[in-house]
Amino acid sequence: MTHRVRLAGRETVFEVSPDETVLQAGLRHHLALPFGCQSGGCASCRVRKLEGLVEYPFPPPGLSAAEVEAGYILMCLARPRSDLLLDLHQPPQLDALRPRQLPCRVQSRTWLAHDVLGLSLKLPRGSASAGAFTWMPGQYIDLLLDDGRRRSFSLANAPQVDATNPTLELHIRVAPGGRFAQWAAHEMPERAILRFEGPLGAFYLRDDAARPTVMVAGGTGIAPIHAMLEALTRDACERRVYLYWGVRAQRDLYLHERLTQWSRRHAWLRYVPVLSEPEPGWDGATGLVHEAVLRAHPVLRGFAAYLSGPPAMVRAGKQAFAAAGLDADHLFYDSFDYAHETWPGMA
Ligand SMILES: Cc1cc2nc3c(=O)[nH]c(=O)nc-3n(C[C@H](O)[C@H](O)[C@H](O)COP(=O)(O)OP(=O)(O)OC[C@H]3O[C@@H](n4cnc5c(N)ncnc54)[C@H](O)[C@@H]3O)c2cc1C
Ligand code: FES
Repeated sequence: MTHRVRLAGRETVFEVSPDETVLQAGLRHHLALPFGCQSGGCASCRVRKLEGLVEYPFPPPGLSAAEVEAGYILMCLARPRSDLLLDLHQPPQLDALRPRQLPCRVQSRTWLAHDVLGLSLKLPRGSASAGAFTWMPGQYIDLLLDDGRRRSFSLANAPQVDATNPTLELHIRVAPGGRFAQWAAHEMPERAILRFEGPLGAFYLRDDAARPTVMVAGGTGIAPIHAMLEALTRDACERRVYLYWGVRAQRDLYLHERLTQWSRRHAWLRYVPVLSEPEPGWDGATGLVHEAVLRAHPVLRGFAAYLSGPPAMVRAGKQAFAAAGLDADHLFYDSFDYAHETWPGMA
């Protein structure tokens, strides 16, 4: 049976056929819905169900018990069993940022750390679309590879104010066996032309400045958080931010100097690097990054939290923070899942 889905606070209504998930139907209706893995793991497609019933082929792996309790569903797995009312929980300005496929040129390529490559991308000069491309700090793009594969990377910078042709910065972890990253590091021609789709994702700062905010990054998970902080440092920031950056060793702290400077210059920012494999002589925080957060803030009721980085870190942080009283409505995350080699519905 076909069911109708309404989005709270909007005029949008769409129909879901019996053989479709909510996400498939929404995309078929050309709606700008957040999603990532399309297989229940990353929870990028998380929305709150206000009314109605859904069913899943299996329990949604990307949702914590606290999120299920709070009424969240995963659109990529959920099939309606009645008409639904959903709260998309995203600001109207995101509707104007519909993802587009565009070319870009690699302007520079630098090693930021022993295994992190920085890429600066520019839309080609004179491109009619250059001035129009923008994003919300925290969002990501998908690089579109020649063989049809995609690779997701967060935009590590905030859009430049008044830029007619913004620079897009990426921080790419060059893992052994990483197909795109190894190619980009060792084989990509100078000034290569790439294609990307963006802006994507629902990881951006919400209008919740009154809440003290914990930002937690693992490895290159600092990229989208760096973009958010860059935007915050430009204006008078009214938000108290506690930034925790977890990496293995000191050599991985490739933004340490800048983050230290920002925290000295801005009273609203506290920065805590956390090493899981510290060298002798390190007198800072150690261990798992979410545990370092909880040592300093054992009760997170009233806080907002933004997490990005490896899936295991995001999963552990979500669970531990919910147990510490964090409200699921104020928990936002980007789980850096590995690329899926085929992306159904995106062709
Ligand atoms: C929303 C989002 C934003 C992201 N942003 C960033 C970012 O800013 N920076 C960044 O570095 N990464 C980011 N990622 C992660 C990145 O997209 C993936 O790691 C991607 O797979 C890298 O592509 P690659 O071709 O270099 O490596 P791949 O060929 O995809 O492989 C990467 C590494 O992972 C290993 N691997 C692959 N699949 C698995 C698996 N299932 N289990 C265990 N190991 C596996 C490979 O052997 C290799 O070592 C993001 C991911 C998402 C979903
Ligand atoms: S897109 Fe639904 S969980 Fe990843």
